Parts: sequence; C-alpha cells; structure tokens
Amino acid sequence: MRFSSRTPADLRPNRIAAARAERRPEFDLTVSNPTRCGLPYPLELLRPLAAPAGRVYSPDPRGLPGAREAVCGEIARLGGDVTPDRVLLVASTSEAYSFLFKLLCEPGEAVLTPSPSYPLFEHLARVEGVQALPYHLDGEHGWRLDLHELTAAASTVRAVIAVHPNNPTGSYLHPDDAGVLQELCAARGWGLIVDEVFLDFPLAGAGRSLAGSRTCLTFVLGGLSKSIGLPQLKLGWIAVSGPDALVVEALERLEHIADTFLSVATPVQLALPALLDQGALVRRAILERCRENLAVLGELVGPFPEVEVLPPGGGWSAVLRFPAVVDEEDLVVALLEEGVAVQPGFFFDFPRDGYLVLSLLPELAVFREGVTRLLARLRAVIEGGGGPDPGPRTSDPG
Ligand SMILES: Cc1ncc(COP(=O)(O)O)c(C=O)c1O
Repeated sequence: MRFSSRTPADLRPNRIAAARAERRPEFDLTVSNPTRCGLPYPLELLRPLAAPAGRVYSPDPRGLPGAREAVCGEIARLGGDVTPDRVLLVASTSEAYSFLFKLLCEPGEAVLTPSPSYPLFEHLARVEGVQALPYHLDGEHGWRLDLHELTAAASTVRAVIAVHPNNPTGSYLHPDDAGVLQELCAARGWGLIVDEVFLDFPLAGAGRSLAGSRTCLTFVLGGLSKSIGLPQLKLGWIAVSGPDALVVEALERLEHIADTFLSVATPVQLALPALLDQGALVRRAILERCRENLAVLGELVGPFPEVEVLPPGGGWSAVLRFPAVVDEEDLVVALLEEGVAVQPGFFFDFPRDGYLVLSLLPELAVFREGVTRLLARLRAVIEGGGGPDPGPRTSDPG
C-alpha cells in the first residue's frame, strides 16, 4: 500500500511535542485556543444557534445572504468595503486557503508565503499538492517586504499570501508594501490572499482591511475563530475584490468548489448577525487580555537588558529575542522540565536562533509565573554561555 506524499512520510512527534506530552506543562504560553483561557464568554452566547429556522436545509454554496451581509458589516468595521455578492462563506480560514489553492493553482504550482509566519501554510499547501515558497520579512526594518525577492519569484507562482497583521510578529502590511504587492500581482496575474484574522486585535497602532481594493484580484480572509474567539463554530469568509470581470469569474469558480462540499452548517449562518453582535464582548475581553499580558511581559523583561520584546502591532502573540547562545530546541525542552511551554522561533521560520514566541492569551497569573520562570532560565543560560551562534536552521513545525 502506498499513501500520497500530501501527508508527511514520518508522522512521529518531534522532540518538543514528545517532551511536552510527557511533562504536561502547568504554565502553557503556547495556548492558541481562546475557549480554554478563562475568558468571560456570556452563558447565552450560543442561544441563537437554536433558532427554529435552522431545522430547514436550503443550502446556498456561497452562504446564506443574511450571513454574508453580516460579514460585510464586520469588514466595514475594519475599514474594508465589499458587498454581500462578493463574499463566500467557508468553515474556517484554513478551508479558505484550501479553496483558494484549488482555485488558483495546478498541482505542483506554488504560492508565496511570508517568513517568519504561521507554520501551517506549508501543510495547507502540501495537502492541496501545491508548493509553499517563502518570501522574507525583514526583521531589522519593521518586517517590510523584499520587493526584489518577490519580483524574482519562480514562474510556477500563482498567488501571494500576506498576513495582516502577521502571526507571530504582529506586524501590519505597510501601506507602501501593499501598493507594491498589488501592482506586482496585477502585472504577474497572481492572486493576492490577505489573511486578516488578527486585524481585530490592535496592540500598538492598527491596520485597515484591504477588502475592496481593486488593483489586483484580492481575497481577504477572516473568521469567527479569532474575531469573536469561537473556533468551534466553524465559520470563516473570503471577501473577493479587484477588477470586476476577474472578481465575477473567481466567485463563480469558488462557488463551484464550495458547492462540492457545502461545509458551513445552516444554524451558524442563521445565527451569525446575533453572534457577531454579542461576540463583541468576547473580542474586547481577548484584546484586553492580550494588552494586559503584553504590559506584564514588558515589566518582567525590563530588568534583563539581554532580552528584548519585539513590539507587536496586533494579534495574540509576542516575540522575545535574546542572544543566540543556546539552541532554541534545547531551551524549549529545558523549560518544559520547569513546567513552562513556549514555541521556539524556528517553528515560525525565524532566520536564526534566539527567538521565542509567547501567546498573550493565558490567564494573567499563569502568564506572569510562566514568563518569570522563562526569564530565570534564560538569564542562567545567557550568563553561563553556550558556545557559538549555531546560525541558520530550517523550520520543523512537526
Ligand atoms: C494567521 C492565521 N491564519 C489562519 C489561521 C487559522 O484559522 P481558522 O481557525 O479560521 O482556520 C490561524 C490560526 O491560528 C492563523 O494564525
């Protein structure tokens, strides 16, 4: 029996996952599931899911009109501008990627993905038989794009992904870079995919939605998993804009793909306007949590001149930079022994050792104690030295 190479050849857990399964850390600074962080979800929040209209199934592959209209309201709140006929509902942003790769790429063709960024792009591309090719964000210059690198991209490229703000650097797509990227996509016939799942969470500054921009064929992604902290409801969206003829054809083809699966449940579509209304409370609580933890982080890191918090513009994470005197993987495993879980920078493809990624979602006491233990260990390691900088390495999200 032979299985396809869309799934990895080796499914064994990597060293960090194995260590983690053994230790079950008490101070989990990797948590990305907001429903497990002691946030105040209103008891009645999911009541709209029980609306009697949900007993009838009358699917629309693009999503029910009332739900698409509610999505347009969300996008307008973030500064974008689309009409409901240019929105398509999906079960999650991950599914949106899968639909867009099907729409834009032949098997073996490629999408450009930012680096460092969300490690799942590689997996999402691979399961569609598509290649994810990294383009680099410049950490020394506000995570700006390298236009030369993008211009020199392989001829197999069919789309570019931008994450706005990016996970985990928290950096927004600079308006000048957005303009250049749009021109490049228009000239090359590439789709521009803008992942705005964290746009609702400004920590310093804010960004505007790119939904509605007309220069090139643009797909803006968002969803409930982040916007109101409800990943279990499985509802996300794609807002399409750009030159009219291209938009119309892209939507027709996306509808064809969506019709093959009809993956979004009826009750959540019917409930969407009410969920978005009441979920604003959850969004505010998440934002407040992230801001409070970021302030705690700044306060705790302050006395350690060797350690730096890279200031995030928005999102749910913070990045620590420190002298690369120790292998990140060794450090993360050592921290697990002290009950603290963090992500190494190399999971996200930072170009060298010396980065850790912390979730800003944990409860305040958990976050404070976890960071305190982390910094104590980091100081011991830095003061003890650890040999030369191990230099560049490849990513292994495993
Ligand atoms: C940048 C980014 N995009 C998309 C996703 C996936 O979101 P969803 O739950 O909607 O699939 C994540 C999840 O963490 C993410 O970080």
